[in-house]
Amino acid sequence: MSDTVESVIVAIDGPSGTGKSSTSKAVAAKLGLSYLDTGAQYRAITWWMIANGIDVQDPEAVADAAGKPAIVSGTDPAQPTITVDGEDASGPIRTQEVTSKVSAVSAVPEIRARITELQRSIAAAAPQGIVVEGRDIGTTVLPDADLKIFLTASAEARAARRAGETKGADLSATREALVKRDAADSSRKASPLAKADDAVEVDTTDLTLQQVIECVVTLVEEKRTAAR
Ligand code: DC
Repeated sequence: MSDTVESVIVAIDGPSGTGKSSTSKAVAAKLGLSYLDTGAQYRAITWWMIANGIDVQDPEAVADAAGKPAIVSGTDPAQPTITVDGEDASGPIRTQEVTSKVSAVSAVPEIRARITELQRSIAAAAPQGIVVEGRDIGTTVLPDADLKIFLTASAEARAARRAGETKGADLSATREALVKRDAADSSRKASPLAKADDAVEVDTTDLTLQQVIECVVTLVEEKRTAAR
């Protein structure tokens, strides 16, 4: 466990549409922990690249610019924030354009090195501990996390959830885009989407969000009790 008995670091990884964000925020709020959405950081740096005319298909150009934008994440689970050079980026990072380009940007090793360092410093500074959600948190960013969860769900369930979040979205197009992005995130060389050997896998296909939250809260509490 982390330095005090109550402090706990939880890594929640998995592909898109498995309920990572909703689960992570709710677990953090319930347990009084900070919360970090690492996907939002990759989206934020992608948004900056697009806004600054960088060709996101050119890894060298992306690498050269990797250190330029200042990315700041607010870690209150009730109101997570993200700014780029002081500007609120929470809306623009959810556009279709950013979603379709984020895998290319996040595959560049210089981008990953920069964002990983940021993530580690945020986690180290969280007073009571933190829930960090992403793709490579348990494997690469925080390999010593107290608890690692890997959420999965069928592609159908994930697409249905994502389409439900986006008004007027077409289910089969959503499924196709999601499967394509997961394949890119899983096959890249630099810290791909992967389950850590010591992660607990939770298949959320047939579970309600409330059931997933309860399951993770129970696992955290078990860890805390075992560490006392
Ligand atoms: O969780 P999300 O859909 O907002 O993540 C957006 C993208 O960011 C995802 O397709 C891959 C990338 N990502 C990553 O490479 N590593 C992480 N730890 C989190 C996200």
